[in-house]
Amino acid sequence: MESNIQKVHSICEKALNDGNLSKEEILVLLNCPEEYTDIIFQTADKVRKKEVGEEVHLRGLIEFSNFCKKNCEYCGIRGKNKSINRYRLTKEEILETAIKAESLGYRSIVMQSGEDPFFTAEVLADIITSIKMKTDLAITISAGEFTYNEYKIIKDAGADRYLLRFETSSEELYKKLHPDSDFHHRMECLDNLEKLGYQVGSGFMVGLPGETPEILADNLLLLQKLDLDMAGIGPFLPNSDTILAGASGGTLNNSLKAVALARILLRNAHIPATTAMGTLDPKGREKALQSGANVVMPNVTAQEYREMYQLYPDKICLNDDPAHCRGCITRKIEGLGRVVSKEHGHTLK
Ligand code: SAM
Ligand code: SF4
Ligand code: FES
Repeated sequence: MESNIQKVHSICEKALNDGNLSKEEILVLLNCPEEYTDIIFQTADKVRKKEVGEEVHLRGLIEFSNFCKKNCEYCGIRGKNKSINRYRLTKEEILETAIKAESLGYRSIVMQSGEDPFFTAEVLADIITSIKMKTDLAITISAGEFTYNEYKIIKDAGADRYLLRFETSSEELYKKLHPDSDFHHRMECLDNLEKLGYQVGSGFMVGLPGETPEILADNLLLLQKLDLDMAGIGPFLPNSDTILAGASGGTLNNSLKAVALARILLRNAHIPATTAMGTLDPKGREKALQSGANVVMPNVTAQEYREMYQLYPDKICLNDDPAHCRGCITRKIEGLGRVVSKEHGHTLK
């Protein structure tokens, strides 16, 4: 009978040329002891090199509002959290931040917020139109759920991409964590975004309370089924302002394994080394870049707002300005022997 280590080796060997792993094979890799996990990370790194090359794409993240009408149990900016101050950037501030990001060398920005009723599709469309007039930036929106027509208004204004994580593939767990959202509606939103011609990103958190290895394997298979352009995976980090304060959260090893498996299954999707990964471990983003990731999303929001957009505690870069982060991340990427892309970093599909 094949030993565990032999199984890990033979699955990884197969994965170099073929991303169609079965759920059983995914589970063998997810459950393998920590001392074998380097083999998985190295396999994902080879697949990354072959499928997307050495370039790392930077997306400048603009956190434009921390108002949210929803109450996802894990999130520090959930509407019912009364212990944070709320802010909303003006159109001029968002435009200014985008222009600054471009001057720092970014070719692409991500505009992210809570589900803030102030930022209707029309308001977002107006801002996107202005950014497109003044810059050559590719624009990604990550502002939650809208109707098909609203997503269309945002797309028609010039948005190129949309990020909407499904958070977990387990309908039951989704229901427990989202008092005011519905799993099927979330999936319908992803379907609408795809139909409208967005480059679509989705993903999940690793280590949510109630997650099992089976759920984690299903999360990865769902990513693959959705045939995404981008896949964002990061550890769940418990926030003391939420009822999940005492939960244990995602581990570095499991989060890196999930990133590595996403690369193996999705081949040429863009996969970020997330900020949450960098928060969990000082070298978390570098480790993710060496385990399949090819994107980093440094914060370009003005320093004064960063503290108010804490989805989870101890978020990195809170006291750093956009120019500092740009230099810092470039040094980290080049330190790994990789290069910062000068392109927009559109989908490779
Ligand atoms: N409101 C939009 C939405 O929910 O899609 C976009 C912004 S939301 C803050 C972005 C992502 O933050 C979520 O998809 C979720 O995965 C992540 N997030 C929220 N709370 C987190 C936590 N405590 N730990 C790690 N990630 C978290
Ligand atoms: Fe709002 Fe998004 Fe946080 Fe949920 S995850 S509470 S929708 S900001
Ligand atoms: Fe912000 Fe390193 S990326 S300080």
